[in-house]
Amino acid sequence: MDYSKLKVPNHVAIIVDGNGRWATEKGMSRSEGHQQGFLNLKKLLAYMFSKNIKYISAYLFSTENFKRSKVEVNFLMNLLTGQLTEILEFCHQEKIKAVFSGRKENLSKKVVEAMEKIEQDTSKYQEKIFNICFNYGGHAEIIDATKKIVKDVQAGKLDMNKLDEETFNHYLYQDLPPVDLMIRTSGEQRLSNFMLWQNSYAEFYFPKTYFPDFDENEFDQAILEYTKRDRRFGGIDYAKKNH
Ligand code: IPE
Ligand code: IPE
Ligand code: MG
Repeated sequence: MDYSKLKVPNHVAIIVDGNGRWATEKGMSRSEGHQQGFLNLKKLLAYMFSKNIKYISAYLFSTENFKRSKVEVNFLMNLLTGQLTEILEFCHQEKIKAVFSGRKENLSKKVVEAMEKIEQDTSKYQEKIFNICFNYGGHAEIIDATKKIVKDVQAGKLDMNKLDEETFNHYLYQDLPPVDLMIRTSGEQRLSNFMLWQNSYAEFYFPKTYFPDFDENEFDQAILEYTKRDRRFGGIDYAKKNH
């Protein structure tokens, strides 16, 4: 689709959901669903960035996902370590800067090292920012930011009276602009603890498609829907007829 006349969102966030159901309905294992989701994510990312979207956040593993079976958790962890070379190759090819959001504490050394390698190797790119939410929770992020703020206030590095939204944003895992469009695939209509701070004024879009089938055409539909939304941010456009 031609995007040149459209007002594209600056920051798109996506909850990659439905991999398991996609696989189960096809008689495959849940892991195969995650594998297919991973392949689809690469294709979709290249497409979205090619349409001048500067920031893309993807929810790939939540703090709550540790409740799943050992086999499934291990498979998801191994996607990062096992596909490290491919991920790096992809980022270099597309000139993507990849950053991570989430708690490092419960992750294995191997996974943390893979994350650090991806961040370091791609830090030179500036145009396309890919924020990977891994072992991420919106509550955890706000709590972790608050702890850092308290520390800085106690150390005399931050004046509490100067704490505003912009300053708070600096203390989050990544200092990103607000989300404009939040997509959750698979028909579920909830945030599941995803970017609570950044999604405060996002437009939400909930396609029924499972993530492995969420292709370029599906993304075009999301953008078309987004362009129809009237983003008022609490204000009123008095020049408009219906006011
Ligand atoms: C999303 O797919 C990927 C992760 C949560 C890691 P799911 O695994 O949640 O798939 P469903 O929701 O069970 O179909
Ligand atoms: C949210 O999906 C987390 C990710 C996509 C990484 P879940 O499938 O884990 O969320 P619930 O359990 O349906 O809320
Ligand atoms: Mg799910």
